[in-house]
Amino acid sequence: MAVLNLVKEGQDEGLLRKISRPVTEITPRILTLLDDMIETMRRADGCGLAAVQVGVLRRVVVIETEPGTVHELINPEIISRKGVQEEGEGCLSIPGESGITRRPMTVTVRAQNRKGEFFELTGTGLLARAICHETDHLDGKLFTDVVIRSTEDDE
Ligand code: NI
Repeated sequence: MAVLNLVKEGQDEGLLRKISRPVTEITPRILTLLDDMIETMRRADGCGLAAVQVGVLRRVVVIETEPGTVHELINPEIISRKGVQEEGEGCLSIPGESGITRRPMTVTVRAQNRKGEFFELTGTGLLARAICHETDHLDGKLFTDVVIRSTEDDE
């Protein structure tokens, strides 16, 4: 496994705004990418990472909101959203910034695993926020696009 360079907003020549392409075949390169993304996320002390953040425009996401439980999502698609939460959010690609976003309280995502098998994952609270945040990355969206107020307002 390798720690990859994190793409930062402002130094990315617009890469973070691009739409990632679906994974059509799960090649050894995709499996290595998943491994390296997990390593990179953990090293950066993050709880989620999208492939575009390491410079790869593919629809691949890793999430670890609960230490030791990694979710690997290939071609994720949110199929259900319920409720509302307003909580603080940040991004490894936008260091030092945070803000309150409004997200669904619970989401269900459909994705493929390493074997190409489809599965569904339902997350509430932080996991739901992470699923929304990371799948947004695949469509070139950043949390700063959906901030409703600054985190300081809640203090
Ligand atoms: Ni992010």
